[in-house]
Amino acid sequence: MQYLTTLWVLSQNPAMVLSLLELSVVQVRRSWQAAHAHCRNHFVDLVVADTVARYDFLLQEMGGESGSLWIGLHNSAPGGWQWVDGGALSYSRWYRESPSGLMCGSVDRDLNGPKRLLPRLCHEHHAFVCQGATPPDRVEVEYVGADAVSLRWDRPPIMHNVSYSFNISVASLKASNCTSTLSSSTSTLSSGLQPGSPYTFCVSTVTDTAVQSRPACVTVTTRLEAPVKVRVDSIDSSSVSLSWADQCSRADTPCQYKVSYSSLGGDHSGVMITRPRCSHIILTGLRAQTEYLLNISAVNLSGASSVPVTVFIFTSAVRYAMVSMVLRAVQCVLLVLLFWLLCYFHCKTSYAPEKTEDTTGVSDVLLSNELSCFNNHDCSEERSGL
Ligand SMILES: *[C@@H]1O[C@H](CO)[C@@H](O)[C@H](O)[C@H]1NC(C)=O
Ligand SMILES: *[C@@H]1O[C@H](CO)[C@@H](O)[C@H](O)[C@H]1NC(C)=O
Ligand SMILES: *[C@@H]1O[C@H](CO)[C@@H](O)[C@H](O)[C@H]1NC(C)=O
Repeated sequence: MQYLTTLWVLSQNPAMVLSLLELSVVQVRRSWQAAHAHCRNHFVDLVVADTVARYDFLLQEMGGESGSLWIGLHNSAPGGWQWVDGGALSYSRWYRESPSGLMCGSVDRDLNGPKRLLPRLCHEHHAFVCQGATPPDRVEVEYVGADAVSLRWDRPPIMHNVSYSFNISVASLKASNCTSTLSSSTSTLSSGLQPGSPYTFCVSTVTDTAVQSRPACVTVTTRLEAPVKVRVDSIDSSSVSLSWADQCSRADTPCQYKVSYSSLGGDHSGVMITRPRCSHIILTGLRAQTEYLLNISAVNLSGASSVPVTVFIFTSAVRYAMVSMVLRAVQCVLLVLLFWLLCYFHCKTSYAPEKTEDTTGVSDVLLSNELSCFNNHDCSEERSGL
């Protein structure tokens, strides 16, 4: 499981979701306790506006009608004002301070300005604001492989007093199908994905009373499969020939290979791209006697790439190349000489009609000797016999 060992966070658009509150104003007048029970049965709880930002959001979302709305704030004698999730009231937006005996908190829609908290008798009947399930603030991509993606997220702070799980769905944008699973963990590893394909992952929270939040989503394109069995086929002072096993044919989008090279000193580098589905390349114009680092990766038009495969090579010295060139030249000259000799004998015999029988026989023998020596790649003995 190589994909578990490397982790890197992609800057690729982690979904940002503004998860202030999911609010529902219930326009039925109830006592605070009855409102609390209603919210716990049908939503998550009475609203907990435990930061000034959430309080401001609550004022903004309260709706048009007049009158007070119960919120999840109550005065328990020793602890003072508390939210239904157990947190203390950390800011002051009271329109009027609490006289003794007034035990439950409301916001008033007839007041103006920011100070609209009103303490009221808990048995009074008012409409109320329930809070629904909220999704995680954002889903982070921890790792992207060719066939697996791992994600993590934080628990939504609003939900800390409720029991719930996460509904994680994986949708393939190409195959347009979707699977979902329930989990209590704040991370997930999806495997068995198609290389180089886009997927949308969504995480929502589902309470034990089956209230589901909006989803927080992130779209990720899986990587392409890296080339395997990379081989250096030949190398000399200025070029190297590489080949590998093609993995592009397994991806459902066309891909090709990018080969980048850079000398270890860093002063000579470049990039070459193969033709689609071509799994070999000859890099030329390299410097002699230099160590190069080569990176070979699969890439496609939509910007997906594989993990690069790294190869180190060391080009040979020019001198060896010169020697081998000279040797090849000598070989050529010898061959030409040989053919010339053959031709010479052959021509001589065919233009001497008086000796027909004998010499054509000789030249045939010579020819067949030559042919067999070329076939055997062993010309030295035959030539000395000539
Ligand atoms: C929510 O908080 C209240 C008050 O602190 C506590 O009594 C209750 O058990 C908590 N509920 C859950 C589900 O944690
Ligand atoms: C999870 O979410 C998906 C899509 O939002 C939904 O179709 C599915 O029923 C949910 N699963 C559960 C167990 O709630
Ligand atoms: C989509 O369908 C294909 C083939 O039916 C299946 O192999 C794949 O696992 C599915 N993907 C998801 C995310 O459900």
